[in-house]
Amino acid sequence: MAESNEKLAGIAEKLLIGQFHRHVFLCAGDACCAGVGREAAQAAWDALKDILKEKHLSLATGPCACYRTKVGCLRVCTGGPVMVVYPEGTWYGNMTADRIPRFVQEHLIEGKPVEEWVFARNPLPTADA
Ligand code: FES
Repeated sequence: MAESNEKLAGIAEKLLIGQFHRHVFLCAGDACCAGVGREAAQAAWDALKDILKEKHLSLATGPCACYRTKVGCLRVCTGGPVMVVYPEGTWYGNMTADRIPRFVQEHLIEGKPVEEWVFARNPLPTADA
């Protein structure tokens, strides 16, 4: 049976969906992470989760509030873990756990992408444009 929109809206409210300024997608898929291995991909995801929580950026409000999603493929399929950050559309490669603290501090908190790790850009138009 399909869930009601009311139930889904309640879940979204608990997750603070509607409050976020950024959304980070991290790919832990086997193809792009073949060079580092599945454990390293999971370690990157765990590091992202832990640091966002520690810095009070997830399940948060304010200009640095960030939603995170682990995905199975972003269609790049090499040089992983691959990550993309919206709305800027900043694409990062080789985002292993050791890179996550600097990424969170410089990009998500200070608003300055870590240029030497960026391999592509695709900023999205704002929804109200
Ligand atoms: S498996 Fe990560 S981009 Fe395809």
